[in-house]
Amino acid sequence: MSRNIGVIGFGNIARAIITPLLESKLIKPEQIYCLVKTKKSYVNIKNNYKYKVNIYHENSEDAYSVWECPLKILSVKPQQLNLIKELNPSGINKNKIIVSILAGVSIQKLEKNFPNHFCVRAVTNIPITIGKGLTGISYSSHVKQSQKEFIKKIFESSSKIYEFEEDYLDIFLALTSSAPAIVSLIVEALSDGGLSGGLQKNLSEELVLEMMLGTVLLLMDTRISTNDLKNMVTSPGGTTISALRVLEKRSFRSALIESIIEATKKSKEFR
Ligand SMILES: NC(=O)c1ccc[n+]([C@@H]2O[C@H](COP(=O)([O-])OP(=O)(O)OC[C@H]3O[C@@H](n4cnc5c(N)ncnc54)[C@H](OP(=O)(O)O)[C@@H]3O)[C@@H](O)[C@H]2O)c1
Repeated sequence: MSRNIGVIGFGNIARAIITPLLESKLIKPEQIYCLVKTKKSYVNIKNNYKYKVNIYHENSEDAYSVWECPLKILSVKPQQLNLIKELNPSGINKNKIIVSILAGVSIQKLEKNFPNHFCVRAVTNIPITIGKGLTGISYSSHVKQSQKEFIKKIFESSSKIYEFEEDYLDIFLALTSSAPAIVSLIVEALSDGGLSGGLQKNLSEELVLEMMLGTVLLLMDTRISTNDLKNMVTSPGGTTISALRVLEKRSFRSALIESIIEATKKSKEFR
């Protein structure tokens, strides 16, 4: 990658995006310019981060150099957004790009806060921290194709990319960023089922995780439909149909559908 990348907020998610780029040598540490808020985080990253990136804190004299990068990733918490002040000495930021990964902050709001930048919204999810993320991207209409390619390259090392009209990012967020919590809840509840049946907690959870992994791989590898898989393991008068009957009675499927609709609504409210 020939261009420098600025990172405003070098926390967990930003590191998950940048570290694989450095590991695969797609970019050199000296091309990364990071900004954090506190001196404590600055010292921590300076001393402990594996790569010698350029790092600054809010009050560093040369923190403006982060703003000189042609592309910046904005990765602070949504509630910290209004504290980030665009630096634009002598028009350096004209036509530069900010890619925000802030949950629920619209392109319109970003462009209001950073009037000298073209803004891009990227929604990613927690598995990005192990290089298995899903990232939905939406661009302001001013972003050029070459800039889009560069942005996709940044996220490709840690996630699969999907490009959307901004309206679809809310449902994308619900389904990919919120649903890891739903899946965790299901794992926990099934494990408790094992526990109730007399298994040790650790063993029960291990069995649930392995079962889920195997089931997902089976669905993905063979491309059989979920309905076919369900039929394969559901015999007349058997154990599985007894289990499914309980879930139908308790509106399990409807609860999951509604949970995604509610998360989508909430995401729209944040905009
Ligand atoms: N966690 C998730 O599942 C997830 C998934 C996808 C997207 N996201 C989004 O990712 C974003 C970052 O989340 P995170 O978990 O990585 O947060 P985090 O670890 O708390 O990192 C936030 C970073 O922003 C810095 N910061 C705060 N205020 C600043 C300021 N005024 N100037 C410069 N830097 C500032 C912080 O510096 P200090 O350490 O010095 O305070 C820290 O480095 C959030 O907006 C979230 O919505 C999160």
